[in-house]
This record gives sequence, C-alpha cells and structure tokens, in this order.
Amino acid sequence: MEEFTTISGQRAWSLEQRRAGKTIGFVPTMGALHEGHLTLVRRARERCDRVVVSVYVNPTQFDNPEDLAKYPVTLEQDRQMLAQEGVDALWLPTSGEMYPDGYCTFVELVGPLMEGLCAVARPGHFRGVATVVAKLFNVVQPDVAVFGQKDLQQVMIISRMVADLNLPIEVVVGPTVREPDGLAMSSRNRRLSVESRAKAIGLPTGLELANRAFKQGETNSLKLTELVYNELLVHPGVEVDYANVVKLPKLEEAETAGEACVLAAAVFIDGIRLIDHVLLGGASIPVKVDE
Ligand code: PAF
Repeated sequence: MEEFTTISGQRAWSLEQRRAGKTIGFVPTMGALHEGHLTLVRRARERCDRVVVSVYVNPTQFDNPEDLAKYPVTLEQDRQMLAQEGVDALWLPTSGEMYPDGYCTFVELVGPLMEGLCAVARPGHFRGVATVVAKLFNVVQPDVAVFGQKDLQQVMIISRMVADLNLPIEVVVGPTVREPDGLAMSSRNRRLSVESRAKAIGLPTGLELANRAFKQGETNSLKLTELVYNELLVHPGVEVDYANVVKLPKLEEAETAGEACVLAAAVFIDGIRLIDHVLLGGASIPVKVDE
C-alpha cells in the first residue's frame, strides 16, 4: 500500500493510474476504522481497479471543538486494516495543506436537505463535509466514491453536490453494518463505556419498534418517534437530539409516515453523539445501495 501525506503526491499517483487506464474507487474516512468502513472498501474494490482511502479528521465539519478534540485516532491500526484489505493508496492529508493560511472557499448548501436533522442540530457541519469532500474528490479524481448509509443525510447531500457540480463520479452507498446486538458501527462507539454502550442499544431498539409499529399500520409520526424516545429516555445521561420522520429524497419532515419515509434520530449517550435511522417498511434510498 502506498502512502501519501501531500496533495501533490496523491494527485500524481491518481494521474498515473488514470493514464494507465485504471479506474479509481475512493473511500473518504476520518479514521478509527471498523468493519463498516471495510465494507465500503470492498465495494470500491469490486467496482474499480485501484482503491484509495483517505484518513483525515476534518476540522471544518465539527461544530463543537471538544467533539473534535475527542475524536478517536487509531492510525497504526487503520493502516494495518487497510493494507490487509489490499488498499492501493492511503492518503493522509494535513490541515496545513487542506486549509492553508488565507483559506476562504467553502461549498454553500441550500434547500430542504439543509433544513432538518443534523443540518439544524449541527450548524455548519455539512458545509464542512461538502467542502472537504469536494477537495478530496479534486485530488483523488475517483470514478466511484463509496459512503456509508448510516450517514444518510450526508449521502443525500453529497449525491446532490456531485450532480449539481457535474462531477464525473458515481456515488455508491454501502449498507450500515451493525454489531450483533444491533448497534450501528461507528468510530464514536469506541468512546462508549460499558454502561453507556448498554444505554446506546435503546437507539436501534427504538427504531426497530417504530418500524414494526409502522408495518402494523401506525402512520402517525409523533407516535412512531415516541417509541424511540421511550426506549431511550428511561436511562439517565441520555438526551435525544432529534427523532424525526422524514421523506426521501429531500428529507422533509412528514407528519404522516408513508412510502419513502425514514425515521432518523440523533442521541447523546453520556455526552457521545450517535446517529441512526430506519427506512420505514423497507423504503429504498434513491441512490445506489449495496446490500
Ligand atoms: O463520513 C465521514 O467520515 C466524513 O464526514 C467524511 C465523508 C470522511 C468527510 O470528512
């Protein structure tokens, strides 16, 4: 596995691959890798001749400096996992190069996708995500970029950005990978104590209860979200940031749950923020999803 820390190094490698007629699959990450990330790497590998993974904890997408400071970093382990997966290039951008002195350009996002869920709960978050992803795309020049479905709003925003900016990149979505007890894999799970982790199970359990109620005919969004709140708020130290029924593809809030609806939630478990969602009744998202 080749490793680059400079933009010029990664760019030259990508250019060389493209000149040799090789396709490039790209998985952008913030590190602290887990099986969910490796699933995305495998999707990229299935589709492309070469696979690039970036590991960069992007400061511009954190609305809370403490959250940024506590974001887990496990570079040596990440490197080993990626090498074992047969990744061709690991890019480790530096903030000095990504955001040099005088940096002043950001991707501005507007419209319904920016009017709910994490866009409201974490002001500036998606501006930072879209900006860094656009920059990473510009350097890596991928044919295919793979993102995890767990971050559904991110996937929808990036797919929209790729279409709006006419980027010649296919966005592929990999499934949410779960622990045996249902907790969605997330880099942040590493920060959960044994007690916090036990409380966190309330999130997938509540979402599954809501999905079951929906399948049995309950369409009142408040009643469905109440099932999530009830499952979580029994524990001390748990705060629900939001739990909303929204409609794909624009993620607009839906008072009545129906076709193409998703129940999405964000919670703080002893101060650690986790997100998850359920596609009600098995709705499908309007970008390619690999099962
Ligand atoms: O999903 C993530 O890990 C990040 O938001 C991403 C896409 C790597 C951008 O920093």
